[in-house]
Amino acid sequence: MRVAEDPFDRFREWYEEACRDPRGEVPEAMCLSTVDEKGRPDARFVLLKGFDERGFVFYTNTNSPKARQMEGNPAVALTIYWERFRRQVRIRGRAEPVSEKEADEYFATRPRVSRLGAWASEQSQPLKSRFTLLRRVAVAARRFGTGEVPRPPFWSGYRVVPETIEFWSEGVFRLNDRIIFRRDQEGRGWSATRLYP
Ligand SMILES: Cc1cc2nc3c(=O)[nH]c(=O)nc-3n(C[C@H](O)[C@H](O)[C@H](O)COP(=O)(O)O)c2cc1C
Repeated sequence: MRVAEDPFDRFREWYEEACRDPRGEVPEAMCLSTVDEKGRPDARFVLLKGFDERGFVFYTNTNSPKARQMEGNPAVALTIYWERFRRQVRIRGRAEPVSEKEADEYFATRPRVSRLGAWASEQSQPLKSRFTLLRRVAVAARRFGTGEVPRPPFWSGYRVVPETIEFWSEGVFRLNDRIIFRRDQEGRGWSATRLYP
């Protein structure tokens, strides 16, 4: 790896390479780590739905444990592993809600049943049976008929604004290659440092 000057260019390069020929993998899957009100870590996968120099965006239920945890403590980490390429990206930063407009625009691109599913799901609450979920989807379908399915008020996105982005790639005999980018003091540029594996 070169110590490139912009981590987003590097990220785009790796992401596009992983997406080009995913072979059944989910290149946009990333592990989101948060901490709860007692400082205990929690982690789960979410899907990367967009990124640019502002950060990395995913969507979820805003009443979910992860959303509550980010509200209490916006410090989060994202970890991505592209197995076929033996590449890892670690991102640490702060989660910020995306704008209503951005969330609406993304929600409108989702398939209709996924939009109904967002209305039907009380994410991470106990669910009596699969049937209850399907019935709630049917109730939402009846409610909106053939009209637009608007974004639920409890469903939106978060942008992880990175403070550090680390790129790891496997080398021979575990002599792996690592470069960490740290945002500089003014928060405008990045400085890159190579790390021991
Ligand atoms: C590959 C993968 C992608 C996922 N993507 C999302 C996602 O984008 N948004 C989401 O809310 N849950 C997603 N999930 C489900 C979450 O991992 C998790 O089960 C759910 O959001 C509840 O998490 P919480 O109780 O910590 O809030 C995904 C799961 C997997 C395995």
